[in-house]
Amino acid sequence: MCELKLGNVITPNELGTITPDVIILAVKPQDFPSVIPSLFGKIPSSSVVISIMGGITISCLQKKLQINRIIRAMPNAPAELGMGITGYTASSELSISDLHRAEQLLSTTGRAVYFEKESLLDVVTAISGSGPAYFYYFVNSMIRAAREMGMDEATSSLLVKQTMLGSFLVLNSTSQSLDDLIQVVASRGGTTEAAIAYLNAQGVDRHIAEALKKAKKRAQELSEFC
Ligand SMILES: NC(=O)c1ccc[n+]([C@@H]2O[C@H](COP(=O)([O-])OP(=O)(O)OC[C@H]3O[C@@H](n4cnc5c(N)ncnc54)[C@H](OP(=O)(O)O)[C@@H]3O)[C@@H](O)[C@H]2O)c1
Repeated sequence: MCELKLGNVITPNELGTITPDVIILAVKPQDFPSVIPSLFGKIPSSSVVISIMGGITISCLQKKLQINRIIRAMPNAPAELGMGITGYTASSELSISDLHRAEQLLSTTGRAVYFEKESLLDVVTAISGSGPAYFYYFVNSMIRAAREMGMDEATSSLLVKQTMLGSFLVLNSTSQSLDDLIQVVASRGGTTEAAIAYLNAQGVDRHIAEALKKAKKRAQELSEFC
């Protein structure tokens, strides 16, 4: 057995005494201005800074911290179970081996996807960064509806969660399109068709798209904290 030491917790003051390969910047974008003074001039030029701050751009980090080697990444909450997905992009100063090492690190929390265009990180934020909350929102709505129709909380929760899990596993193991999968369940004149027809008539699909665009817009606005 060998013990692998993966990281040390240090204060910004100790930064001057060591040369870390990677520094992860994980404060809220709103807090970024307040951490700049404690980091400015202390980050070794050889270190790669991985920022997971929503909306804060690579050019902002380069300007405010006077550093070049940056990865901008957007993980999501299932990272805590190793089931996350992280979108990331990098400054042009990084080599292929730097990118490879960053991808290995980011993949320890799930999957990692590289984006050439930095602007797509705001889309990653809107889709997978915020995505778990949309999922919980939908689950919550279904459980509430079951309760309104007379089912108890525990059974409602079990039915909805197992339905989500089973449906995801089907989706993940089939080559059928999502439209085909809906058609399989929604037989003509049946119960599912009645529900889907109502969702379509209400424009729920369009509202979901609009909601995600709001999230992207907010991600872009967070750059104001630069
Ligand atoms: N939450 C998500 O699902 C998610 C997903 C993707 C990306 N992100 C990004 O991750 C970042 C952190 O989000 P979060 O939800 O994890 O926020 P959080 O729970 O508030 O964590 C922020 C951390 O930053 C520390 N911090 C704040 N100011 C500091 C300072 N001046 N010096 C040193 N440490 C400081 C806080 O320490 P204290 O607790 O001691 O105050 C806390 O540990 C954000 O930029 C967000 O955009 C979050």
